[in-house]
This record gives sequence, structure tokens and C-alpha cells, in this order.
Amino acid sequence: MERTALRFVVLVVISAAACDGAEANDDMVAPVPAFATGSGNPGATGQPSLAALGKKLFFDQRLSVNGNQACAACHGPQVGWTGPDVDVNVHGGVYEGSVAGRFGNRKPPSSGYATLAPIFNYDPANRAFAGGNFWDGRATGWKLGNPAADQAQGPFLNPVEQALPDAAAVMHLVCAGDYGSLFRKIWGPEACNQVDRGYDDVALSVAAYEGSDQVNRFASKFDAFLAGRGHLTPIERAGYQLFTGKAGCTRCHTATGTAAAPPLFTDFTYDNLGVPRNRENPFYRMDKVFVNGVPINPQGAAFVDEAESPVPQGLHPQRLFQESGGAGALLQHPGQVAEVPG
Ligand code: HEC
Ligand code: HEC
Repeated sequence: MERTALRFVVLVVISAAACDGAEANDDMVAPVPAFATGSGNPGATGQPSLAALGKKLFFDQRLSVNGNQACAACHGPQVGWTGPDVDVNVHGGVYEGSVAGRFGNRKPPSSGYATLAPIFNYDPANRAFAGGNFWDGRATGWKLGNPAADQAQGPFLNPVEQALPDAAAVMHLVCAGDYGSLFRKIWGPEACNQVDRGYDDVALSVAAYEGSDQVNRFASKFDAFLAGRGHLTPIERAGYQLFTGKAGCTRCHTATGTAAAPPLFTDFTYDNLGVPRNRENPFYRMDKVFVNGVPINPQGAAFVDEAESPVPQGLHPQRLFQESGGAGALLQHPGQVAEVPG
């Protein structure tokens, strides 16, 4: 437990040092909070019980419109917190929501280690946006102080995921649940009377669990190898050399670190990889499935996901401009996604 915290602190120091060359602007390279506390929500005490509450929320299928889908449906602990269904993973990649027949556009990334992403920021030295959660960084962390906490407010209300109608519906289920008293004990009775505040507290609780050492375990074979407790086979060693050497993977998948500050295999930036279409992605058929009379994907088979564009979608341009220290030029260059026929 302490070790994770220690590693975490060292990581922050390293990433701050790496930004030394950049124009000083503390807002842009905000250190990662271990656990977001959020403003105006002073009630949280005792991180272990907060994580325990978050765990209950994460695994509660009741928190969906048909009572059939928890976060874990798409982020299974048994598979490193990504989608647990082999068939789905080798075909369309996208998971069905609580409402049968509704699909979003993307494969779930792992929700493990997501709390360690820095708050979405613009790094002028690299002329790149970095941090945030989601494939496009749009869960910035600007609201609740940690991208994963901002992220956790999405799925409960997303019509192609847990699909509850509004935050009040989530709060009703949370406060009436068998962990409702735990929720009130941690966040105060007010949390169940003020929907917006309570919904922030739900998200902060989920993020506390996601940031706990139950989730971010650093228990892979590679971690054991770094700690001198395991050995790589010859072929693994050769792959490691290739990965960090000739193949150039570490240009983006940062692999330098120690047992105390293990690498997370990401530099948290966004790249246009030019990945071709996956024709089996069910989202291409979502022009025929409607939510409130509107097709989920009006473009149907013509849809192009600009996820890895330099400017995340759905972010308020003015806020992005401020947070990026006026990197206005970049805002002129939206989507760069290569359309690969196939
Ligand atoms: C129906 C499947 C589904 C459900 C249910 C779901 N997710 Fe996800 N999750 C996804 C997809 C797909 C993405 C990527 C979305 C994007 O990039 O636009 C994602 C992204 C994330 C990320 C971002 C990880 C990163 O590194 O950027 C986190 C964290 C996460 N989900 C946590 C949760 C939590 C917490 C819940 C429950 C409140 C939840 N998810 C429910 C499919 C799901
Ligand atoms: C130009 C930057 C860049 C380089 C170089 C690069 N990658 Fe990636 N890689 C990405 C991005 C961006 C993703 C999408 C997922 C993400 O944002 O982390 C990705 C995703 C992946 C994934 C899937 C991760 C997941 O969670 O689903 C693997 C595995 C991977 N890369 C391996 C490699 C290997 C092996 C190499 C070297 C041969 C390499 N990458 C080189 C940027 C890069």
C-alpha cells in the first residue's frame, strides 16, 4: 500500500521534471492528485472506506436503466479492467449497453491505472495535448480534480451504456441501496439531498476505488522483473530490447522507471495512428437504432472516429483555449484521422 503511494509520488516528480523545459505554468502541468477531493465536498474521510464505497458503486448492476449493467460489464477485473468477452474483443470490440441493441463507437480501454493520468493539459514544449481520460482525453479532470472522477459521471447517463435518465435517478438508486448508509456516513447526509453534489461524490468515490491498490496493483510479471523478483525469458528479453530500442515503441509507450516508480507505458499524449476501420464495429449499424427519435449514429457506415485528433471532441473551445495557454493555432487543426479504405 505504502509502496504504491511512494511510487506514485516519485512518478509525479519525474513528470514534473520532464516538463522543466516548458514555459512555467503550473496549471498546465498540474500534478496528479492521489485522490480528488473536489471543491465543496468536504465530507470524505478515511480513504479505505471511500475506496470500499467506490467498489460497491463500480460493481452494482442496479445502477443502469434495466438493472443489468455495472461498470464492470465493460471493465472486468479478471481481464485487467477492459472488456471481458473474448468474442466481442476479436470481432466488433464494442460492448452492448444496458438497453439491448444499443452500441457506442469504441472499445473500452482498461479503467486500471486511469487515475494516474494527469489533468488534461497542453504542453507547449511538445506542442501536444496530454492527460485526461477516454481515447480522446475529453474527461479532463477540470471539474473534479482527477480525469477518472470526471469520467465516472459519464457511463451511468450514457444512453449506449448504463442509460439512466439523469443524475437524480442515479442518486435515488445509490441512496436507497444497501450501501446508502455508508454513502451518507462518508459524504454526509446532504449528499443524498443535493443531486449535483451527491453525483460528484459518487464519481469521487468510484475514482477513489479506481485509484486504490486493489485496482492499480503493479503486479504484472514486468513489475516483478523490475523489482528483481522475476526473470524475463530470452524471447521476452529480446522483445523488451526491441520495444525500448529499434522498434521505437517507447517514443510513446514510456518504459523507463524503477520498481519504486514503474513505467505506465504511456506518455499520456494523443497520436493519429491511422488505424483502419473495423467493419465489424456494430456502431456502423447504429443509424437504425434510435434514442429519443434520433439515430445513435446518423452517419451509419460512413462514420469516421476522429478520436485521436489533436483537439478532443466535445470540449468547450474557450476553456480549451484558456487551459492550453492560448494555443490557438492548434485549435485550427481539428481531425487528422486517416481514412483507410477497406
Ligand atoms: C457498455 C460498456 C461500458 C460501461 C458500462 C462502462 N464503460 Fe468505461 N468505457 C467504455 C468505453 C467504450 C470507453 C472509451 C470511451 C471513449 O473513449 O469515448 C470507456 C472508458 C473508460 C475509462 C477511461 C480509461 C482511460 O484510460 O482513458 C474509465 C476510467 C472508465 N471507462 C470507467 C468506467 C466506470 C467507472 C464505469 C461505470 C460508472 C464505466 N466505465 C462503465 C465502456 C464502458
Ligand atoms: C507515435 C506513438 C506510438 C508509437 C511509436 C507506438 N504506439 Fe502503440 N499506441 C499508441 C497510441 C496512441 C495507442 C492507442 C492507445 C493509447 O492511447 O494508449 C497505442 C496502442 C497500443 C497498444 C494497445 C494498448 C491498449 O491498451 O489497448 C499496444 C499493445 C501498443 N500500442 C503497442 C505498441 C508497440 C509494440 C509499439 C512499437 C512497435 C508501439 N505501440 C508504438 C501510440 C504509439
